[in-house]
This record gives sequence, C-alpha cells and structure tokens, in this order.
Amino acid sequence: MKSRRSIPDKILLFDPSDIVVKALYNLFRHLGFQQPLTAATVDQARGVMESNQDLTLYIFGQQKTPEDDQKLFVQSQMLCPDAIGIYLYSTGGDESLIQQTSNEFLVWMMNQGSIFKAVPKPWDNSQLAQLVMEMLKERYLQNQQQRRQQQDRQKLRAQKEMITQLQAERQLLQESRDSLEASLSQAETRSNQSLTDTILFMLQLANLDLMRHSRRVGFWCQKVAEELKRPQDYPPELLNIVGILHDVGKINLPPDTFGLPIHQLNPVQQEVYNAHPTRAIWLLRRLPDQIRQKVRHPIREHHEKMDGSGPLKRFRQQIDPWARLISIVNHYDHLRHTTKFGSPTGKEHAMEKLEAEAYSHAKREGQYDPALLNVFLELLQESNELEEKELEPRQVTVEQLRAGDQLAEDLYTTTDLLVLTRGTTISTESRVKLSQYLDEGQEIDQVWIENDYHDLFKS
Ligand SMILES: [Fe+2]
Ligand SMILES: [Fe+2]
Repeated sequence: MKSRRSIPDKILLFDPSDIVVKALYNLFRHLGFQQPLTAATVDQARGVMESNQDLTLYIFGQQKTPEDDQKLFVQSQMLCPDAIGIYLYSTGGDESLIQQTSNEFLVWMMNQGSIFKAVPKPWDNSQLAQLVMEMLKERYLQNQQQRRQQQDRQKLRAQKEMITQLQAERQLLQESRDSLEASLSQAETRSNQSLTDTILFMLQLANLDLMRHSRRVGFWCQKVAEELKRPQDYPPELLNIVGILHDVGKINLPPDTFGLPIHQLNPVQQEVYNAHPTRAIWLLRRLPDQIRQKVRHPIREHHEKMDGSGPLKRFRQQIDPWARLISIVNHYDHLRHTTKFGSPTGKEHAMEKLEAEAYSHAKREGQYDPALLNVFLELLQESNELEEKELEPRQVTVEQLRAGDQLAEDLYTTTDLLVLTRGTTISTESRVKLSQYLDEGQEIDQVWIENDYHDLFKS
C-alpha cells in the first residue's frame, strides 16, 4: 500500500452493510481521501449525490435485487454524470443471479460511456486501491482530453465568429462603397443632366433648329449606345451629352450660312461652316475635364467618313468610335429634318439613302461604320411612325396650354417671378393659377411644353 497523501476528490461509499461501509471508509481515508462520504441506505446515497453533484467516484455495494442496483445507478448517472463508479458485488449465495446482475450492469454502464468497474466481495485492499487510482488517472486523462477538445472547439468557434464578423464588416463596407458610388453616380448624372439642359435651353433661344437637331442626335446616340450594351466603350449618358454638344460650334453661324444647303455655300461660308467642330471645342474648353477629354475627339471628327472623304481625311479606325456614331445619326437627322441635303424626307427614304451611302462599289469602301449603322437602322425600324419632329419641346402661348401638358422649362413671368417649375404637368388648378397671374397684369412669354421621346418606341 502506498503512503498516505491528500486527495481532494469527493467520493461516496454505499453498501447495505455498515461493516462494509466502515471498511471502505477506513481504506479510502488511509489512501488520502480527505472526507469520504458514506451512506447506509439508498435514500441516504441519493441525498448525498443530490447535494454533491461534483462527486468524482462512488462505490455501490450490491443490494437485495438487481432492480434496486439498477435504480441507484440510473440515479447516479443522472445526478453525477461525470463520476466514475465501482460496483461491489457479492460472491456468496446464488451465483447465477449475481453473475447475471453484474453482467447486466456492466453492459448497461458501458453503454452509458461511463468509467465503470465491477469488483467482487471480499475485495483485496491493495487491488481495490490500485483500481481506484487507475480509474482516477483514466478519468483525469479523459477530462484533460475533453478540456483540450473543448478548448479546440472554442478556438474554432471563435475563429468562425471572427470570420463571420469580418465577412459582415466586409459586406457592410461593400454596401457603403456601393451606396457611395451610387450617390456619386446619381450626383454626376444630375450634374450632367443640368449641363445638357442648360446648353439645350440656350440653343433653344439662340437657334431653335439647332437645338432640335442637337437634341435628336443626342437622343439617338444614347439609344444606339444602350442597344450596344457596352457601357465601357459606349456609355449611354455620355453619348447623349456628346450628341447634344456636337454642333454647339454652329451657335453663332450667320442664319444664311446655317440654313443653306451644303452645296449652296460659297467658299467663305464653307470655311466658316467647316470650322464649327473646332469652334465647339473652343466653346467647351471650360467644361469639367472628365467630360471635355471625352467629347473633344468625337466632336472634332464627327464629319469624318470611313472612306477618308471627310474634312480631316481620316480613315476607318483613325476616326474616333463615338464620332463614327455621331456621323451616322447626324446625317440621318439632316436627311430627315433639315434642308442641308435638300428637302426633309420621310423615315424610310432617309434610311434607304443612308444604306446607299454606306458602301460605294467604286471605292470599295463605305462612309459609315457598318456595325453601328446596322444597330441604328434596326432601332429606326423598331421606332413607330410618330413624327420625330413632333416629339421636340414646343413653344406655345399660355392660352394654348392644355391640362396634361408637361412643362419643358420653368415658367416665369416677365418680371422674373417663378410660376411653375419644369416637369410640372398642367392641371385645371394650374390653369386657374396662370389665369390669376394674367389677371393681375403679369405677362408670360416663354412657355415650352414637353413631348415624350419614349413615345417613339411605343407600339
Ligand atoms: Fe456638325
Ligand atoms: Fe450635326
């Protein structure tokens, strides 16, 4: 027997016989267990376990019936699931019953995953002490392993939580970035919109035909860009802007030069006319850099032809891609709505002329970028029969305003009093309001109403 030492583990010793309990008590005290708990009845044993659920070990002596033993072990499993157990069974009396009882317990306890041993009475103190120490050691190692596994699980959980948290933070950052980019882009769109609106409004006052031409060219450039679905190469919003700006250099052309068909211009007029792309770039020199850099080349080259017959004699890929698109749309618009190349003509005829000029068998070369021309012609084919020129903002008198009309410009009195803002849909109430202003002696002379471009594609 080993020397006496101090063991802090709580143990419970139970046997129906006081003598057995006392013997066990002495043995475990001698082994160094500070205060072995004892019980002489099942109720006492249960009471001890209820109030000492941190028991490390219990030793139960065999009772009168196997049912009693099983009941006590079930209770010990419930109350002290971490404790290890030793079952002391009797070897006197009915051997087969004892054997059956201990077998049943062994299987049952093993199934519970507990550390459990069965020891016959009378026991050998040294062997029992050694068994207990081995079981405690095994339990200690098992606990240690469980602790390590638990620590590993905790670490893993912490790592997972950290990853989840990082992912959530990343998601949040991405969302803030997206929303920032969206608001920047909205702000840019708003500022671009107000820029083009301002230019169109000024063109409208300076030269109504020029404004209409610019607006239509901007509209169709944007439509083709949307259809191309290559926003990196053809951003629709910028194509709209460049379409609107392409002829801004014509703003101060003398009316006779502006209105004359090309072939009727004399050399001086021709020179002034040909200078309009360069003049546009000069006029737009104060535009924000990010727009100016993008619109310079398309504006300068918008009269170039793929066959090199344009004023700058550039060929095919030498011509800016946006300029190639403006060139097509611009020519169509002149055929359709202006007198630059004769009387304005219908949509079908204008399309036929474009196709005819697209390729010259003699030169074995076309004037227009075939891919862009195809997209444009297909879009024209899809557009309905509404007259495009009727889709421009119209100037009307106050008396001509009807409910449902949408204002294309802010409505001011001649004394600069804002009456209604652009975009307002005229209602009966607004008609009454306007009449009141007029009755008060106010005058209104610039009334522009909007037509909806999108009607073009309505079936
Ligand atoms: Fe032009
Ligand atoms: Fe033009």
